[in-house]
Amino acid sequence: MDFQHSHSDNPRTSAIHPPVKHRIHESQLDYSKEPTPTRPLSNYIVHCHTPFNAEPHLPLLVNSGQITPTDVFFKRNHGPIPDIALDDHKVFIGVQQNPQYYFNAESPPIEWKILSMHDIMTKWPKATITASLQCAGNRRDGLAAVKEVKGVIWGAGTTSTAVWSGPRLCDVLKDVAGVSSDMLHEMIRDFHVSFEADDHVHEDVCYGSSIPLRKAMDPAGDVILAYEMNEKPLSRDHGFPLRVIVPGFIGARSVKYLQKILIQPQESRSFFQRHDYKILPPWVNHDNVDQSWDTAASLAEMNIQCVICTPTEQDVVASSKPVIIKGYAIAGGGRAVYRVEISMDGGHTWEPVDKMEQKPDKKSGMYWAWALWEKTVPRMNKSTEIIARAYDSSGNVQPEFPIWNYRGVMNNAWFRVHTLPVLQHHM
Ligand code: MTE
Repeated sequence: MDFQHSHSDNPRTSAIHPPVKHRIHESQLDYSKEPTPTRPLSNYIVHCHTPFNAEPHLPLLVNSGQITPTDVFFKRNHGPIPDIALDDHKVFIGVQQNPQYYFNAESPPIEWKILSMHDIMTKWPKATITASLQCAGNRRDGLAAVKEVKGVIWGAGTTSTAVWSGPRLCDVLKDVAGVSSDMLHEMIRDFHVSFEADDHVHEDVCYGSSIPLRKAMDPAGDVILAYEMNEKPLSRDHGFPLRVIVPGFIGARSVKYLQKILIQPQESRSFFQRHDYKILPPWVNHDNVDQSWDTAASLAEMNIQCVICTPTEQDVVASSKPVIIKGYAIAGGGRAVYRVEISMDGGHTWEPVDKMEQKPDKKSGMYWAWALWEKTVPRMNKSTEIIARAYDSSGNVQPEFPIWNYRGVMNNAWFRVHTLPVLQHHM
């Protein structure tokens, strides 16, 4: 792969390198500039304030509709929110060309190109996609109930959907790094595009992640460098001034506060790529996890998921009135949610939901956004377990029971809610 030189008014080639970062101790992370006053806390179950980790209440999430308002969208951070000025922000783009140099300190220097936010906002057409993000730790509470897990004990609210806008990563890489889709032959099959953020975390020098170059360069992969969310500049919580949106992949790959993009022969060496977001085998636990990270693949596409948002667990419902069950379902990799089914008898019999809406991307035809669904059941006159499960267009279906793993990721077991009916005159 040749690293193309820029034409006259294209990004400057520079001897300047991205800032060198050092890992800092958790106690040194500076949370004094958090956008606290802008956070509508009543919309959320806040798991942690520093870093800010919050999921919306499920009825609010589903009742907010197909597009989640920004102040309802879940918020997942590993460190303080950086305070970045739009005009000062620079994005460094480079190519690490030769696999044999990858781990070698003597490797040739990377020729970085620098883009300003103005470049990013004006040099390429603005693409708009509607995509759901879901944290791989969504529903970790279900795995924590089985055995000890490591991570924020999220409920089922770490999935939300927004309209994202910005240039396509494939267009930027084509022009700035000289990569084209027809170069995706065998030699660069394993190449990744790694992303690094302008934030501080204690697990590594900064937050980082990577995606296969194939996904980045696929025009139907719809990866974008987003500077807008729901038609407004990104908020600080969601990555101002720039983030990657990798639709169909776990949320961890959609790096916020984007500062560095590097094409390289292997996946990112970031803690958040090589460790952390993996389904570790069942024998891995607190004692042996440090030696076991290589036993599992880094997560990429989401799995099929379905959640009942209303009624919620232990909700009291009128026994004499029909009950409206509402929820979301999402399939990874651009697959469609094919069917959502409800069981009221422990999974012996199932019925389809009454309504389901999921829209494909207008251009690529891929299903990046969730399906919202509804079912009305005539009445519940005794304590009832409602179960929901979904199938995707590849025939993947959710498992009956949670599949425990130490990091508590990708829990997509049948979703169960237990309601408590009362006679109507008691309500
Ligand atoms: N990017 C940075 N720079 N720092 C982070 O902590 N968290 C990741 C990803 N990108 C993270 C990040 C994770 S785990 C998720 S699920 C999504 O951002 C959450 O995005 P949101 O906070 O906009 O919902």
